[in-house]
Amino acid sequence: MSPADLLAAAGRVARNAHAPYSGIRVGAVLEYPDGRTFAGVNLESASYGLSICAERSALARAVTDGAEGPVRVAVARADGVPILPCGACRQLLSEAARSMVVVHAGPDGPRERPLGELLPDPFLLEDDA
Ligand code: THU
Repeated sequence: MSPADLLAAAGRVARNAHAPYSGIRVGAVLEYPDGRTFAGVNLESASYGLSICAERSALARAVTDGAEGPVRVAVARADGVPILPCGACRQLLSEAARSMVVVHAGPDGPRERPLGELLPDPFLLEDDA
């Protein structure tokens, strides 16, 4: 799938987000080496701190289905405003695959950036940083 297609898929699924408090609807699509994709959206709670981001909700779906080693993740807002994964999501994504590429909207169209550029030194239990 092209970066533009992956980003468009994230933008489409973002419309399903449950974000009545922030009004910011986010979608994420994880892509795996076998071509499978898993989508997630942000889910907000009246107890604000319980809210979950789109990236982590996509990751939970992928892990549930036994998918391993995501190669790319696209993140988009339903309204098209560029968005990058928050720090917590960068950490979780890094633990899934440090070599992953992040696709996000930029001023000149879709951008692809190594996750390692967004979070160069994630927390790791093993000494394999
Ligand atoms: N959000 C995400 O879904 N992903 C991110 O990486 C950043 C933030 C959500 C959380 C919250 O529901 C809304 O965006 C506003 O922060």
